[in-house]
Amino acid sequence: MKVVLVVHGGAWAIPDEMASASVDGVKAAACEGYTVLKKGGSALDAVELAVRTMEDNPVFDAGHGAVLNADGEVELDAMIMDGRTLTCGAVSSVQNIVNPVSLARAVKEKTDHIMLTGRGANLFAESIGMGTVPTDSLVTGYEKNEWEKHKKYITGIKELFNSQWGHDTVGAVAVDSSGNVACATSTGGIRNKMVGRVGDSPIIGSGGYADNLSGAVSCTGHGESILKVTLARLIAFHMEQGKEVEDALDLSLSYMGDRVQGAGGAIAVSTSGKWAAKFTTKRMAWSAVENDVLWYGLDPNDKIKGHLFQFHILQ
Ligand code: GLY
Repeated sequence: MKVVLVVHGGAWAIPDEMASASVDGVKAAACEGYTVLKKGGSALDAVELAVRTMEDNPVFDAGHGAVLNADGEVELDAMIMDGRTLTCGAVSSVQNIVNPVSLARAVKEKTDHIMLTGRGANLFAESIGMGTVPTDSLVTGYEKNEWEKHKKYITGIKELFNSQWGHDTVGAVAVDSSGNVACATSTGGIRNKMVGRVGDSPIIGSGGYADNLSGAVSCTGHGESILKVTLARLIAFHMEQGKEVEDALDLSLSYMGDRVQGAGGAIAVSTSGKWAAKFTTKRMAWSAVENDVLWYGLDPNDKIKGHLFQFHILQ
C-alpha cells in the first residue's frame, strides 16, 4: 500500500516575513509524520507526531505560538480521529498544555468520552501525568506584540482571513501501509476571540474527519463558517460519493464561500493515497510526502517539488 502524509500550517494571509519559516515548518512536520509511516507506523501515530511538530514550532497558531484571546491568554483546541474505527478525541479551551493533540488522543484512548473542555481537560491531563507549563511559556513575543496592536476582534470574514490579523491552525492527514486513514487538527483559534470561544478545530466533522470508507480531512480557516457547513464531513461526503479528492475540496470550499461567505482551506487523502491541498484565502502553507517525494506550496496553484529532510527513512 502507498503511504502518504499531508500537513497544513493554516490558511490566512501569511506575511512575506513569515513565509519561509511557515514553509520550512510544514516541510519538517511532513517529514516527521512520513518517517512514522515509512517505518510501518500507523496513520494515527503519524498525524499526531506531525501536528506535535507544528505545535512546538512558534511560527504556527497552535501550542507554542498560539494567538491570544480577549484577556491576553492562550486557549487551545485540538482533535484526532482514526478512520479505521471512527474513534476520536478532542479538547477545547485548554491552557498550559504544550501538545493539545496528544491530550485529545488521550481523551480518545483513556476515557469513555470524545471531548473534554477547559478545567475538566486540564484535570484529566493532570490525572494521566501529562505535564503542564506556565501559560506564558506558550506566548511568543511576536504574538504579544500583535495582540497589543490589534486589541479588537475582526468581525469581517474577508478582512479577518485575507488580512494579516488572522493566523490559523495546523493539521495533518495520512494513509498508512494497511490502508487506514487518520486526521488531526490543532489551533489557538482567532486572535481576540471571546474567552471560552471554541471554533471548528476540535469539532468532529468540522475541523477534521477520518473514515476508511472515504478518507481523512483536516480544515483551517474561519471557524464559525466551517462549523456552519461542517466542512470536513462535507468534503468526506463528496469523496464518499466518488468525487476526486481535489474536486471534493474545491466543491466544499466554494460552497462555504457561496453559502456563508467563509474563507479557509483543507487537506485530504483517500484510502488509495490520492491527496490534495486547497484554500480560498491568500495563502496556506502545506506539504505532502508520497513515494519518498516531498511536495509543498504557499500561494494558490503552487505544487513545488522539495527534498526530504530525513534521508535515513529511505533506507
Ligand atoms: N479554524 C480555527 C478557528 O476558527 O478557531
